[in-house]
Amino acid sequence: MEIALTGTAGTPSPTLPDTSAYLVFSKVDAVEETERGVLAHLHGEQLRIELVRDDVVRLKMSRAGRFDESPTYAVCTDPLSAPVDFTVEREPGVVRLRTSGLVLTLGLEPFRVDVHRPDGSPVIETAEDESGRPVAYATLNDAFTVRRRCRQEDAFYGLGEKSGGLDRKGRDFTLWNTDVLNPTAAGEFTAGRGAADPRADRTSTEFDPYYVSIPFFYHHHYPARLMAGSFVDNGYRAHYDFTPSEAYSFTFLGGQWTEYVFAGPSMREILSAYTGLTGRTQPPPLWSLGYHQCRWYDYDQAAVEALAERHRHDGVPCDALWLDIDYMDGYRVFTWDRQKFPDAPGMLQRLRSKGFRVITIIDPGVKHDPGYPVFEEGLREGHFCRTEGGDVYIGQVWPGNTAFPDFTQEETRAWWGRLNAAHVQSGLAGIWNDMNEPATGDISPLPMRFEGGRSSHERFHNQYALLMAMGTTAGLLEAMPDRRTFVLSRAGFAGIQRYAANWMGDNMSRWDHLWLSIPMAAGFGISGQAFVGADVGGFAGGSNAELFLRWMQYGALTPFFRNHSATGNVDQYVWAFGDVVQELATEAVRLRYRLLPYIYAAFLTAAETGLPVQRPLVLDFQDDDTVRGIDDAYLFGPDLLVAPVLAAGQTSRQVYLPEGSWHDFATGEVLQGRRFVLAATPMERIPLYVRGGAVVPMWTEAPASTDGFFPRALELHVFVPLEDGSWTSFVQEDDGVTFAARDGARLRTTLTLTRSGRSVELAATVVGEGYPEHRREELHVVLHGAAAGRVAVDGTAVEPSDERWVLPNSGTGFLLEAELLG
Ligand code: GLC
Repeated sequence: MEIALTGTAGTPSPTLPDTSAYLVFSKVDAVEETERGVLAHLHGEQLRIELVRDDVVRLKMSRAGRFDESPTYAVCTDPLSAPVDFTVEREPGVVRLRTSGLVLTLGLEPFRVDVHRPDGSPVIETAEDESGRPVAYATLNDAFTVRRRCRQEDAFYGLGEKSGGLDRKGRDFTLWNTDVLNPTAAGEFTAGRGAADPRADRTSTEFDPYYVSIPFFYHHHYPARLMAGSFVDNGYRAHYDFTPSEAYSFTFLGGQWTEYVFAGPSMREILSAYTGLTGRTQPPPLWSLGYHQCRWYDYDQAAVEALAERHRHDGVPCDALWLDIDYMDGYRVFTWDRQKFPDAPGMLQRLRSKGFRVITIIDPGVKHDPGYPVFEEGLREGHFCRTEGGDVYIGQVWPGNTAFPDFTQEETRAWWGRLNAAHVQSGLAGIWNDMNEPATGDISPLPMRFEGGRSSHERFHNQYALLMAMGTTAGLLEAMPDRRTFVLSRAGFAGIQRYAANWMGDNMSRWDHLWLSIPMAAGFGISGQAFVGADVGGFAGGSNAELFLRWMQYGALTPFFRNHSATGNVDQYVWAFGDVVQELATEAVRLRYRLLPYIYAAFLTAAETGLPVQRPLVLDFQDDDTVRGIDDAYLFGPDLLVAPVLAAGQTSRQVYLPEGSWHDFATGEVLQGRRFVLAATPMERIPLYVRGGAVVPMWTEAPASTDGFFPRALELHVFVPLEDGSWTSFVQEDDGVTFAARDGARLRTTLTLTRSGRSVELAATVVGEGYPEHRREELHVVLHGAAAGRVAVDGTAVEPSDERWVLPNSGTGFLLEAELLG
């Protein structure tokens, strides 16, 4: 098939790599059939085309005749283990590989790779360069580039943590983990872009590169509105260019072309397949879904305990307190400053008795300090990265001169795990990994080599945080084998979701940075990382009453809810901005706590399917053109639509309600979807809607902490839809902290709501071996959006009490039938 680029694509775009000096692979010499597909010989190299699933194909090109079989630590399963039915067809000039989900066409001369669905709709199509040569693959020095066709009206999403709007079309991105707001971080790394360092412009919301690199994106093809996906399993610095109107390209500066192409056609299916390869967010400990109080501040033991006390005294629910770098002795990792913390285990134990978990920061940099045991041991056992000349690489972090563990070495990860395990024995609940891009001050990290000096920095830079998180998680499991782990990481790569949550680094206390975190969280979520959040209130610069309150109201409805701010800032505690703000911010925290059964279920869904907790609307409504540009609102879990307040003095805002019916959470009004509504934004709340058909499980009250909180009753809020249909929700009861649920110690109640005219049916089925000591005694069913006449449970009429139907939580399910009035 001949692809002619039309419109402006005929004009060479200055932003696509100029391939005139590249070796463009142009001719396939021979094609052999293999067990999983075909092997093409071209230009002295080999291209392995292998089917992963019916709808996923892997393209893998050799370099110097050899294949890199484990290019990164991203993929955690054997992608070729499941059988796939396919056929190979040969026609003059092309070889075709066909499954039930895709047709791959390998053009022999000129060489090109195109993938379509069996109905002919495009997944990937090779694009030509300015001289008309198809650039299916081209190399220059150690770099390679791939160029593909798109349409002007198409959209692109993904690439994980990126700034700016959700749709990436029209912009270009670099993947190179970077300490964004460190003004010295840009330097040489932005060289080659030809542009001034965008970070110098502090009014901008488009900083790039960012802390995390995930070479995975979606192509939303128009006019059919079908999605395709691409994941390049390569950790080298990369450049994705979506600026031309009718082509896109990606260029990796090293490594091999190993790409998984996803035929979709839905974003959900692609995300499920991608997280099938790279792993999923693990079921988190319940406490980590509570409210976290963090601050970069020089606390001592008494101050931390006073902070805890104040939360309890003021009735602000809170599960976790964090200690930033000042708890250490001279910023030496795995130490405590004994002056400030004379009895850390005692403090941790007292805090725990009040329901607080404590998490400390651990940076990868180990102070260069003869006599400091961690440094001495690391040196003696060969754990530190070395330069090409064999010196221990030294960078600059908080303690000054700093050595960096070579986490590519299994023994080093194990050593790091042991250090973490010993550290948390004091009573810590989790670990915060920071500066793990790695950030090395104004010293270039490039001389820092890996694999005992054998491998370049470029190969592993983007994977450093992932490898560190692997070691950290292993340590937590060693210390607390029955506990679900909690690690927070700043940097990351594809796969980081298996080990850690990510926060979005050093944002600013500005309204546009509040907004920025919405598309950024969504980008993360659709790139496999469900456990994300921004520093609530803003990190850099002082927050203010209104911004703080609005951020708390929004942050309470994001996956990871942590108040954090930089040293030198004004206080940013819940009570710091006066009584009025304190009361309203506390209300926001309480709402989150009441919603925890729902939020927990959303996290379990992420663990089981890869679907994110904070979701862009396009995930559920990819056929609705209105939502593709919406990045000032999102779904929190499957059924809550959140529209944060984004400016000072805002008294109302427009909200787009997609297809379906939507219940205004505050007023109870039920609205038909597929339209914009004007939502009031009084200081008490931000707009929040519940999807008609949802059953939202909630606690009857907000506890001070999740620790040991197993209330008698669980509320099931039934949001009666305007339309007929069937919807499914679930709630899981388990201990919230151990792995017992995995082994069956849980009650998973699936709730199917069916509306047919005036009849509403709620069918509850239960699986799991139960967890009798934590099972609620009662379920309180509350109907929203409609009044019920007769209600029967398992055939027996039941009267409401206090506008709720109280059912015993038998652990065996029930059938509730209601006739609606009116
Ligand atoms: C980095 C982190 C920030 C932390 C600070 C001090 O800037 O991103 O969260 O507070 O270092 O450790």
